[in-house]
Amino acid sequence: MSLLLFLTSSLIFSCLDSLTEAHSTPLPRRVFTDKEIAVKRSPLPGNHAPVRILLRGEPDSVTAAGQTHLYTYDFQQPRKAPVERRLVWKECTTEDCGYNITVVQERQEADQALVCGTNGRETLCCDVNLSAQSPTCTPSNKLRAIERGIRSFIVKEGEPAALVESAESADLYITNSGSQEYVGIHKFGKNRVGPGMHNKEQHYVGLMLSRGREAPLQDKVFAFYKEKNSGTDLRGDMWLPYVTRVCMADIGGRKNNMQLTWTSQMSARLFCGDPDTRQHFSELVDVAIVQADQWQDTRVYGLFRNEWHMTAVCVYTIEDFDNIFATSAFKGQSKASNKDRSRMCVEDSTTLSAETLKMIAATSEMEDWVKPVNKSGPLLSNHHNYTHIYADSSQHKRNDSHTVLFLTLNNGAIHKVIQTETHTFFTAEYHPFNHRAHVSSIILHPSSRKLYVTTRSELVQLDVENCAQYGDCEECVLARDPYCGWNFTHCSPANDTLQDLTTGNHTICLVPLQTASRYSTEARAPERVKHITLPSNSKYFLSCPMLSKHAEYTWRQGKDTTLCRSKEQECLLLIYSMSAEQVGTHTCESEELGFKKVVMQYELQLESRAAIGRLSSPLVWVCLVAALIKG
Ligand SMILES: *[C@@H]1O[C@H](CO)[C@@H](O)[C@H](O)[C@H]1NC(C)=O
Ligand SMILES: *[C@@H]1O[C@H](CO)[C@@H](O)[C@H](O)[C@H]1NC(C)=O
Ligand SMILES: *[C@@H]1O[C@H](CO)[C@@H](O)[C@H](O)[C@H]1NC(C)=O
Ligand SMILES: *[C@@H]1O[C@H](CO)[C@@H](O)[C@H](O)[C@H]1NC(C)=O
Ligand SMILES: *[C@@H]1O[C@H](CO)[C@@H](O)[C@H](O)[C@H]1NC(C)=O
Ligand SMILES: *[C@@H]1O[C@H](CO)[C@@H](O)[C@H](O)[C@H]1NC(C)=O
Ligand SMILES: *[C@@H]1O[C@H](CO)[C@@H](O)[C@H](O)[C@H]1NC(C)=O
Ligand SMILES: *[C@@H]1O[C@H](CO)[C@@H](O)[C@H](O)[C@H]1NC(C)=O
Repeated sequence: MSLLLFLTSSLIFSCLDSLTEAHSTPLPRRVFTDKEIAVKRSPLPGNHAPVRILLRGEPDSVTAAGQTHLYTYDFQQPRKAPVERRLVWKECTTEDCGYNITVVQERQEADQALVCGTNGRETLCCDVNLSAQSPTCTPSNKLRAIERGIRSFIVKEGEPAALVESAESADLYITNSGSQEYVGIHKFGKNRVGPGMHNKEQHYVGLMLSRGREAPLQDKVFAFYKEKNSGTDLRGDMWLPYVTRVCMADIGGRKNNMQLTWTSQMSARLFCGDPDTRQHFSELVDVAIVQADQWQDTRVYGLFRNEWHMTAVCVYTIEDFDNIFATSAFKGQSKASNKDRSRMCVEDSTTLSAETLKMIAATSEMEDWVKPVNKSGPLLSNHHNYTHIYADSSQHKRNDSHTVLFLTLNNGAIHKVIQTETHTFFTAEYHPFNHRAHVSSIILHPSSRKLYVTTRSELVQLDVENCAQYGDCEECVLARDPYCGWNFTHCSPANDTLQDLTTGNHTICLVPLQTASRYSTEARAPERVKHITLPSNSKYFLSCPMLSKHAEYTWRQGKDTTLCRSKEQECLLLIYSMSAEQVGTHTCESEELGFKKVVMQYELQLESRAAIGRLSSPLVWVCLVAALIKG
């Protein structure tokens, strides 16, 4: 009896779940489990998420930098153990080589990387040949200034960083998050520059170089962080989102006056929200950057959270940042009071006047906030708990402007969201894990469309170009997946295929065949027909797979129709007691944006002899229904 109660209550909860979710939160059109799409997985040693995933060369070859080793995986043979190579620290003294890798930055030269390790007291950086049999951290002339400058600085794992190389030297920009001293952007190299003293708690989620402006002197570094709100207003947000920038040419102030401290730093609040509903998002979780050919068009996708368990994505351009930094007043000051303060990058920051340095030291925050591009609201906002964002804007197969966003959820699932100029569309939800998992990173290999997902214990390769799963032309077009299109015989990853990303209008399937019989408002012939014979008075249920979460499913027998309200995987039609009335054809039909088809067709017949092995016990009945609904 208790089992029955349990099953019944779990059934009710599962129904409630799907009802409440359907209200506010868009459902991805399709759900793909690890059984339906190509998922290859490899265990990660050490129970520690990789410091860095490197995709170099071959599409199926991945190098993961762990704390002490490099692991190279060949996903052509996922069962094979990875090639494990311990990193040798050439410079370390014999008894103290316990450095753990914290930074890996690929260099200009193929195979080479700047690698830093920390032993808790100091940081060792050097040059590593990633392809070498025994990768060795070796001092290099070009990196010498970084190596020297960073030695006494403790670099934390996972801090955003960028390496800038010129012909004869190199600079490393890296952030320092937390609430201790010197939180902010640090530069190591020919010049050592860092943040001034402040007592703010800041956590950095992204750092990017912005180059290619008219004058190289104006090249900048942008960083994105959330700052603990130190305001006393109890109703205020706990975290505030910021963008900050420094000039790459900045070498700090004059002797004893902001020496080795940024003189070009400016920061501004990011706004993500909807002014109409007064809904806003203030905790910056992650950023994804899409570099554009024109520097000002480079886009930053910010993933935000708020205290009402909602998440949102807002998009900004570098031009938006530059406009605020060029025109806004400094916070708490009149525009006139800072008029001598240059907002441009200057050739030699050590020549700035004491008066200017005083203004700079007083504040670097702007009064105005940066609003999303074109003053838009969030691209999406919902009740899913997203933890990471990755943006793919590569248009190498399809020549229309769109971005594919991958958003990881805190249960291990991943949403694939299509962003065109005017529409945001949730095309798929992938379940690479068959258990709850905490994703630590995602990265796409753009040309092979393989998404690499890491947790503490696994590295997973997910084929996100899963066109074959969509079916025929109409389904392929309704999917609105930019990685796929109809090639006249299959839903295929090739380019020059039929697709309509903006509206998913399946009537384009008509055109190539030039025959009206392909498309009609009448439902298409059924995909599957099943014949079932049941004893009289027996209970039974007919099931119909609900592949598209955006379609409406209906059971039909003659003129009687029953709409499916469930948002689960299957739509069930319960036959409480088999009788002559139920005999005949039952069809399950789907309709999505005007496209109708018969998904399943059952032919029910009445068995003449007495029932054998029918489902009579209510317990068995509930169990079966529960299993089907849950399954
Ligand atoms: C380095 O990593 C090992 C293995 O995870 C860990 O036990 C050790 O405490 C780490 N050492 C430092 C200095 O972080
Ligand atoms: C890196 O190592 C590979 C394999 O040993 C070697 O072929 C290559 O020349 C090395 N590259 C450099 C720059 O030393
Ligand atoms: C969302 O996920 C993050 C990371 O797993 C977790 O820290 C946070 O508590 C979650 N928030 C909610 C509302 O579940
Ligand atoms: C902003 O609006 C302009 C003009 O309407 C449009 O060309 C541009 O694509 C929009 N930018 C983004 C990122 O949507
Ligand atoms: C489509 O593919 C062909 C051959 O594979 C290639 O030459 C062409 O540039 C591609 N078109 C686009 C828009 O990528
Ligand atoms: C892509 O479209 C643009 C404008 O629609 C056109 O100028 C460009 O040549 C196209 N590129 C390719 C590779 O077809
Ligand atoms: C269409 O795509 C399928 C699967 O990708 C492929 O096997 C087939 O050769 C393609 N047909 C044409 C005409 O390109
Ligand atoms: C699809 O396109 C056809 C032909 O262009 C048009 O008549 C129809 O209204 C469109 N349907 C939708 C749902 O946009």
